[in-house]
Formats: sequence, structure tokens, C-alpha cells
Amino acid sequence: MIVATGATGNVGRPLVTQLAAAQIPVRALTRDPLRAQLPPGAEVARFDPAAEPAALAPLFEGASALFLNRSAVGEHTDAILAAARKGGVQRVVMLSSGIVQDGADETHPIYVLHADLEKRVRESGLDWTVLRPNAFATNAFQWAEQIRAGDTVRGPFAGALTAPIHEADIAAVAVRALLDDGHHGTVHRLTGPTAVSTDDQIHAIGQELGRDLRFVEVPPEEVTQEMFPHVPAAMLPALLKSFAETVGVAPEITTTVESVTGNPARTFTEWARDHKDDFRA
Ligand SMILES: NC(=O)c1ccc[n+]([C@@H]2O[C@H](COP(=O)([O-])OP(=O)(O)OC[C@H]3O[C@@H](n4cnc5c(N)ncnc54)[C@H](OP(=O)(O)O)[C@@H]3O)[C@@H](O)[C@H]2O)c1
Repeated sequence: MIVATGATGNVGRPLVTQLAAAQIPVRALTRDPLRAQLPPGAEVARFDPAAEPAALAPLFEGASALFLNRSAVGEHTDAILAAARKGGVQRVVMLSSGIVQDGADETHPIYVLHADLEKRVRESGLDWTVLRPNAFATNAFQWAEQIRAGDTVRGPFAGALTAPIHEADIAAVAVRALLDDGHHGTVHRLTGPTAVSTDDQIHAIGQELGRDLRFVEVPPEEVTQEMFPHVPAAMLPALLKSFAETVGVAPEITTTVESVTGNPARTFTEWARDHKDDFRA
């Protein structure tokens, strides 16, 4: 049995879907099972990350491995890891961030959150694997409302370059690390297969929708929180600073998705095809 935190999220949903499709028992944790809409093969369990140990214990009964997403466990990582270990879990695969690397700005709030989580996981006594993806392709959902409203998308840094990774590829790597031996003590740095600019992403989404979308760059000082609905307000200044540093700079590209899963990483064009309906009114 695999226990998945963040099961309704960007990475958790394809993870649970892939495990269920392979008929691997998976317990999908969510705060609200009624809204979760997870595949029928998954066992869906209500999860309150702040619950007492006695209430957490049943979530890990019969489980061998845990997928850990900080978005879902918040400040309660240690309690969740302790409950997992007590319940017999031997292996944890955690979703970290590519920002954690040698030479990183160790004061960056996104670094601080994930480096702290990694440390807790390494010290948990469980076998561990860390996934450090760079930019998710799902960040493109930040433009969904504007795209539904018209053909012009406003935002900063038209020339920002990333190698966006499809969430199904992060999930596919997680599946292998959860099920296979040989990943203990490993950090997997994960990216998409090619560098894509903001302009390129808008163009690719437009192509899939059959529309001529246009990106209009706004100066960073005119950026509003609405342009980044998935980013907590307190993180936005640091994120914009990091984003500015990617303009015209070739991003890191790894081949880890293919080496771990046997399948090449999906392109941003494939992502846009998979999600075109999410951008329709
Ligand atoms: N976006 C990027 O480019 C990027 C890059 C590298 C790393 N990351 C990291 O990846 C992680 C996010 O992964 P994701 O996008 O898969 O997660 P997500 O979709 O944002 O969230 C996963 C699930 O967590 C639960 N959740 C959300 N907010 C919560 C809260 N305040 N309290 C309790 N539960 C909450 C929700 O599930 P329920 O409502 O069903 O409970 C949600 O579906 C973060 O640690 C992020 O820093 C992101």
C-alpha cells in the first residue's frame, strides 16, 4: 500500500492515477474526500495534517511507502513521518524543489522551506528519495483566466527561459522511486526536455486552442498578485527576482525522467495538448 499526501494536487493526482491504473494499492489523502474525484481504484481517506497521532495512525495501516508533499503537510512533517514509521512505512519519496542545490541562495524562502523538509526526511529513519523538479508546466495555469477572457495575456518576462516539466513525469518518477529498490539516498533533479520561453508557452497553448494568443510584457513593478494566483503573496517578490534571472539564460535540462521511467520527458506542447480544455471558457 502506497500512501499519497497532496493526492488531489498537480503531482498527486497523476501519481494516484498511475498507481491505480497499475493496480498498485494506493491510499489517497485529502482534506475533503467528497470533492476529491480520484480514480475508483484508489482508496480515498480524509486527512487532517494537524490531527493527533492516534488519528493519523489508521492512515498508515498496512502501508509500505509514503509520497510526501509539503503543500499538504505544512508544519506537521515530523508528526506525519513519525506516524508513518510507526505504522510500518519503510520508504518515503518527497517532493522538494530544484532550488535546493549547491550554491543556492540559502535565504530564499522557497529554498528554506524545502531544505528544511529534506533535512527532516533524511533524519526520519525511513529510506528516502528526494525529487527536485524545476518549473512545473502547470504554472501556465496562471494565465488560464486571461486566456479564457481574450487573446492577450499580460505578465512579466516574455523571454524568461525554463524547461517546464509535465506533472505526469514527476509522478512517473515518484512511482518508480516508491516501488523499486535502488532509489534510497538519491536526489533526482527533474526538468522537461527543452528550454521554452514565456512567449513560446503562450504560443503553444494558443496553437492547441486554435487561437492567436499574444503575450504582452509588463514591467516587474506592475505585476499584480492576480497574475500569479498559485504563488503565496509573501513568496512573490522572491519568485519574481528568481524569474528575472532566467531571462535569456539557458535552463538546467536533465535526462532523469527518461533514465528513471524509460520514457522521454513530455514536451510543453504535449502538456498544452493534454490541458487545452482547462483553458477553455
Ligand atoms: N510550481 C512549481 O514550479 C514547483 C517547482 C518545484 C517544486 N514545487 C513544489 O511542489 C509542491 C507543490 O506540489 P503540487 O503543485 O502538486 O501541490 P498542490 O497541487 O499545490 O497541492 C497539493 C494538495 O495539497 C493540499 N493542500 C493545499 N493547500 C493546503 C493547505 N494550506 N493545507 C493543507 N493541505 C493543503 C490540497 O489537497 P486537498 O485539498 O485535497 O487536501 C492540494 O490538492 C510545493 O512544495 C512546491 O514548492 C513547485
